[in-house]
Amino acid sequence: MSRTAVTPENLIELLESRVSASLKAMDGSGPSDEEVEQLIAAAATAPDHGRLTPYRFMKVSMEGRRRLGDLFEAVEKGRNLHASPETLEQARQKAYRGPCLLVLIGCFRSELETGIPEDEQLVTAGAALQNLLVAATAMGYASRVTSGRGARSPLFHKGLGLQENERFLCFVSLGHVALPRPAKGRPEPSSLLSEF
Ligand SMILES: Cc1cc2nc3c(=O)[nH]c(=O)nc-3n(C[C@H](O)[C@H](O)[C@H](O)COP(=O)(O)O)c2cc1C
Repeated sequence: MSRTAVTPENLIELLESRVSASLKAMDGSGPSDEEVEQLIAAAATAPDHGRLTPYRFMKVSMEGRRRLGDLFEAVEKGRNLHASPETLEQARQKAYRGPCLLVLIGCFRSELETGIPEDEQLVTAGAALQNLLVAATAMGYASRVTSGRGARSPLFHKGLGLQENERFLCFVSLGHVALPRPAKGRPEPSSLLSEF
């Protein structure tokens, strides 16, 4: 698509049409490997002070979902020694939500080393996430961002194979929904803007 084909109106319309899908309603196929690459390329246009690339994505494979399910179960057991088999199975099933499952990881470096505050690095990771969601919306995919209880536990961190300086930020599920949810009310622009 040439740059002139995108009007401000249709870009804003696209942004306004992004809405989180229900994971239960999500089915069909997710993006192909090539489309995932395009989504990551969109993510990579995030503003990035010092070009630190303070984030990365992992795509969870079918085998990865099995291991992730084991991990969810282990984390649930760690949180609740008396968890019922049903609760553990529910925890395990979270690994299978959404036809395509990505993990967003923050790879933050200290301000002392880089001169870039960690807050700014987190903003970059958030912008990368939003770029990916908007690009997925433009491709016709439904999406949902989740984190969940226990996702910040040391066990989860270790199980995902994260480095010391890395932080789990969220999952991104991508797929299709028969009926998109109506967009929730958004904040009034006037409530977000003041003058200084
Ligand atoms: C990093 C991050 C983690 C999130 N984790 C969850 C979650 O675990 N469960 C949930 O219901 N919503 C979670 N949300 C919020 C939803 O993804 C969604 O954005 C919110 O319900 C608002 O809906 P909307 O995206 O349609 O505006 C998370 C959002 C972000 C940015």
